[in-house]
Amino acid sequence: MTTSLPPRPDVQADLTERPELTQRPELIQRPRRTRRTPALRSLTREISLSAAQFIYPLFIHEGQGEQPIASMPGVSRHSVAGAVAKVGEALSLGVNTVVLFGIPDSKDAVGTQAYLDTGIIQVATRAIRAAHPAVTIIADTCLCEYTDHGHCGPLCEIGGEVTVDNDAALELLALTAVSQARAGADIVAPSAMMDGQIGAIRTALDAAGFTHVLVMSYAVKYASAYYGPFRDAAGSTPSFGDRGSYQMDPAGGYREALREARLDTEQGADYLMVKPGLPYLDVIRVIRDASLLPLVAYNVSGEYAMLKAAVAAGMLDEKRTVLETLIAFRRAGADAIMTYHALDAARWLREDAQVREGVQARM
Ligand code: PBG
Ligand code: ZN
Repeated sequence: MTTSLPPRPDVQADLTERPELTQRPELIQRPRRTRRTPALRSLTREISLSAAQFIYPLFIHEGQGEQPIASMPGVSRHSVAGAVAKVGEALSLGVNTVVLFGIPDSKDAVGTQAYLDTGIIQVATRAIRAAHPAVTIIADTCLCEYTDHGHCGPLCEIGGEVTVDNDAALELLALTAVSQARAGADIVAPSAMMDGQIGAIRTALDAAGFTHVLVMSYAVKYASAYYGPFRDAAGSTPSFGDRGSYQMDPAGGYREALREARLDTEQGADYLMVKPGLPYLDVIRVIRDASLLPLVAYNVSGEYAMLKAAVAAGMLDEKRTVLETLIAFRRAGADAIMTYHALDAARWLREDAQVREGVQARM
């Protein structure tokens, strides 16, 4: 079937001389047909996004009141009471999972406040658990917020270089995880990138009777500039050097990512994580295709800060950009997403669901 196009006035003469240009193409495939109406688009949509897939990070300090974090607009350091209230807000929006980062008043060389039962994470976990029995609490298991030098474990000297003592860190990370479990954490999330940390923590949890506590491994964690705002928030910038000797090299490639994921799987990880998120969507896909474990993406502080800055400058529409970003994580293969946008996104999803119901009611 071919029909003629109405000729454009300015080229009428040419078209009359060249009739082949006025023919409609013989298109058998027209993907636009499947996109014609909102209902048709929703019929075959592959990727779903829901509040239950979000993990909301909370920074908790030992002081009173809320302290806004300058580089992360909309995010604050909370008191324990403030964190309890925030968890209530999250639950009311359908966000059932939070991850806790502690900011202690005092730090020392070995991060003692990370593994004391009176540490800020432990106190906050007990308070949140008492107020909200149903919430899933993830405790970030690392020492960098608790050491005075800001590294993720105690230091030692190897060949004249000061570095993190891997095996000494394992012991302290295991103590930290057990103490977090004792306080009521459902999941511990080791983020120190020490070799053997998943196995050390699994063994210690089991020995202490916490066989039901899950380990979410920050298995594929890169040494990234995108953690900048988080380190402001948590006061965990290393006082010397960087984390390049333990976190992964951004130029390291897929084999290194697969190796880290496999080692943590062999050591008993229940979940794998890729971090940061947006610059590593390809790595999320590679791990998704290689592993049977549930996979989490961390939409980190720098990704959040960039988006918020563009929104504040009037350059991007916040709701549409955030939801498109979260969809991208799901399309790349993440089951769950750690994101500072969690509560806003949950609100927008709820809003959209109400709009859709309204449309259906009118049809
Ligand atoms: C601690 C830790 C960091 C983040 C999560 N856990 C910082 C780091 O490794 O320096 C970063 C999270 C974010 O940027 O949102 N090891
Ligand atoms: Zn750390």
